[in-house]
Amino acid sequence: MPSRRALLYMPGDDWKKITKSLTLGVDCICMDMEDGVAVNRKAEARTTIARALQELDFGKSEKLARINSVGSGWERDDIDAVLPFHPDGIVIPKIESLDQIEWGSKIIESAELKFGWRISSVRMLVGVETAKGILNLKEIASHPRLDGIIFGGEDFAASIGARRTRDASELLYARQAVVTACAAYGLQAIDIVYIDFKDADGLRAEAEQGAGFGFSGKQVIHPNQVQVTQEAFTPSDAAIAEARRIVETFEASQKEGKGAFALDGKMIDMPLLKNAQKVLERARAAGNL
Ligand code: COA
Ligand code: MG
Repeated sequence: MPSRRALLYMPGDDWKKITKSLTLGVDCICMDMEDGVAVNRKAEARTTIARALQELDFGKSEKLARINSVGSGWERDDIDAVLPFHPDGIVIPKIESLDQIEWGSKIIESAELKFGWRISSVRMLVGVETAKGILNLKEIASHPRLDGIIFGGEDFAASIGARRTRDASELLYARQAVVTACAAYGLQAIDIVYIDFKDADGLRAEAEQGAGFGFSGKQVIHPNQVQVTQEAFTPSDAAIAEARRIVETFEASQKEGKGAFALDGKMIDMPLLKNAQKVLERARAAGNL
C-alpha cells in the first residue's frame, strides 16, 4: 500500500490548486467533488479532474478523486466522469454501510474489466464521519477492496451534535474506534483535518497525537500543512534506533531463554517487540529506512 502520511484535498474545480499540489512533495493528492465544491460547480469539478488526470504528471504523489456520497444524487455522474482516466483511487465519503461500499466496488471493478486494467489497480478509500458510520465500522472495515478509512471529524461532530474543541476530546471515542477497526482489518487509518491552517504548532501537536494513537496519516487542506504532517507520521531517527535495539536485544534474550528482559531500566517483552516492529514498518513505508 502506498504511504499516505498526508492526504491533501483541493476543490476539484480549482485548476490552479491542483497544479500547485504537484509541487509540494505530498504523498497523496485528493481532488474533491464533494463538500469542497459549491453545488453549482459540481459539473466543472468533474471535467477539471478528468482533464488533470489526462494532462498532468503527478510524479510520486498518489492521485485520488473524492466523489459525492452514495445517495446524494451526484455520485454516479462523479465516478463516471473520472474513472475512465484511471485515478490511483476513489474516495467515497460519508459511508454508513457495506452496501454503499459494494456500490462503488462494483463500478470500479467493471471499469477495470472494461479497460483491461489489473483488478484492484484503482484503490478505494472511504470516509466514515457519521454516528451510523462509527456504529457500523465492523462491517465497513471488512470489505476486501478497501485500503483505508478516513475519519471526518467535522462531519462527525455535526452528526452527534458535539462542540469542537482544540484538544478534540469530543472525537476521542470515534478516532480510537476507527484506528481499532482499521488495525483489525489491516487498513490505513487517516485522521481528522486541522482547519486552522495558519497554526503550525497546533497542527504539529494534533498530528503527533494522531500518530501516537495509531493513525497512519492525516487529511490536510493547505500547502503549509504538508511538511509538518508528513514529519509527524514518519518515525524519527531516535524512534527507529530504539526500535532496532529492542528487536536486536529481543532476539538475543530469546536465545538465552528469557521472554522478558530489562533494557535501559524498562521491561521489554513480546508486545513491545511487536510495537517496535510496527515502527520499523512505518519507517520503511515512509522511505525513511
Ligand atoms: N491545495 C493546493 N494548493 C492550495 C491549497 C490546496 N488545498 N490551498 C491553497 N493553495 C494554494 C493557493 O492557491 C495559493 O497558491 P499561490 O501562492 O500559487 O497563489 C497558496 O496555496 C496559498 O494559499 P492561501 O492564499 O494561503 O489560501 P487560500 O485563501 O487561497 O485558500 C482555502 C484557503 C482554505 C480556501 C484553501 O486552502 C482550500 O481550498 N483548501 C481545501 C479545501 C477543501 O478541499 N475542502 C474539502 C475537504 S475537507
Ligand atoms: Mg466530510
